[in-house]
Amino acid sequence: SLDDLRAALAAFEGCELKKGARNLVFADGIAPAPVMIVGEAPGRDEDREGRPFVGQAGKLLDRMLAEIGLSRRDNVYITNVLPWRPPQNRTPTREEIAMLLPFLRRHVDLVAPEVIVAMGNTSIQALLGRTGITKLRGQWTEALGRPLLPMLHPAYLLRNPIAKRETWADLLSLRAHLQGA
Ligand code: URA
Repeated sequence: SLDDLRAALAAFEGCELKKGARNLVFADGIAPAPVMIVGEAPGRDEDREGRPFVGQAGKLLDRMLAEIGLSRRDNVYITNVLPWRPPQNRTPTREEIAMLLPFLRRHVDLVAPEVIVAMGNTSIQALLGRTGITKLRGQWTEALGRPLLPMLHPAYLLRNPIAKRETWADLLSLRAHLQGA
């Protein structure tokens, strides 16, 4: 179950990041959910609260989801590739991503979403085995036997507001997919 998975992660001693983190950041939202969002790793705010996407990027994410009728309360489940904050928010290494991937796979199976939304390079590295999010965003593909939509990371959008145009197109594509269009 998801509770078992959380407990297994909490007991996992293979990853050094755990030592420097305040909290395990497991997930937020409802399960099962039609949409599962996979981000990168907790930042400072998430580490403090123990919940994913609660800082500035998370607030933007919530606004974006609301535009197409999605919310953590009703139909979205959110997690990250890594459940512990990397020091100084550095990018997760390939080794860290590979080490935590079995947990993420199980996580996806348990949530059983209709679609996975992979946000940013770390997420597509984990789920698709490749990077290049600015090229891959908006192109539906598959991972773990489910449709997957790569999207720009909301933290990237905060730094590059012009890219919100692309994200708007991706959100409409997500909505159309969920409506069976
Ligand atoms: N960025 C992420 O990728 N995940 C979070 O939970 C917060 C910021």
